[in-house]
Amino acid sequence: MIIIRTIAELRDHLDHFKHPAFVPTMGNLHDGHLALVRQAKPLGDVVVVSIFVNRLQFLPHEDFDTYPRTWEADCEALDAAGCDVVFAPSEKELYPEPQGFTIQPPSEIANILEGHFRPGFFVGVCTVVMKLFACVGPRVALFGKKDYQQLLVIKRMVRQFALPIEVIGGTTLRAADGLALSSRNNYLNPSQRLEAVQLSQTLQSIAQAVRAGSTDLESLEQQAMDDLAHRGWQPDYLTVRRRSNLQAPTPDQITPLVMHTGLVVLGAAKLGSTRLIDNLEI
Ligand code: PAF
Repeated sequence: MIIIRTIAELRDHLDHFKHPAFVPTMGNLHDGHLALVRQAKPLGDVVVVSIFVNRLQFLPHEDFDTYPRTWEADCEALDAAGCDVVFAPSEKELYPEPQGFTIQPPSEIANILEGHFRPGFFVGVCTVVMKLFACVGPRVALFGKKDYQQLLVIKRMVRQFALPIEVIGGTTLRAADGLALSSRNNYLNPSQRLEAVQLSQTLQSIAQAVRAGSTDLESLEQQAMDDLAHRGWQPDYLTVRRRSNLQAPTPDQITPLVMHTGLVVLGAAKLGSTRLIDNLEI
């Protein structure tokens, strides 16, 4: 595995390959990231993983400065998982001047859910991903399904800009109790870590109710929000949406969408100062 820090060097190196498979990350890697790297291995002739904590996608009050940087451990794990190239540019390398050009994803997909609670988040994500795509020139790129909306936004960006990249979603990995693996789980103290599983359990119970024929989504979602709030969480949203566009289904669409596995339940909630997100396809 080699480590490359400049765009020029990366391009020189990747000149020798036809089919790069790419996993963009912000580091602080867990098994979910490593599973993406293993999934990428047979899909390309070289596997490139980027590690870049992207300031553009953090709000001013968010955890950019404290976001865990675990460089040594990340490189060791990537090497073991079969990564060929780690691309780890500095901020000066990727943003040598203020990034005046940005990608503005359409509001109907980017200003809802995560985009509503983290305004500008998807502008930051799309802008850096577009830039990383320009550096790596991947033929295939892999993103975790835990960030369900991010995956959808990026798929749509790639489609609308006709980028010659296949975007693949990787299954969410979970701890034994069901908590979705996330870099932010490291912020949880031991008692919060025990409580954290409630988010996925709440999504499970919403999914079960919908599968069992419940169509009053509003009451189901409100009840789930209240339950989490009573346990000391600050829920942002718990909501059943169409997988294709993350819009709320109309009541008459629910049963056919359940039959055609067209729904997903998504949730985001704060436990103490840690904001967790998760989702479950129905
Ligand atoms: O999912 C992430 O880690 C980030 O949003 C990404 C895609 C690497 C862009 O910074």
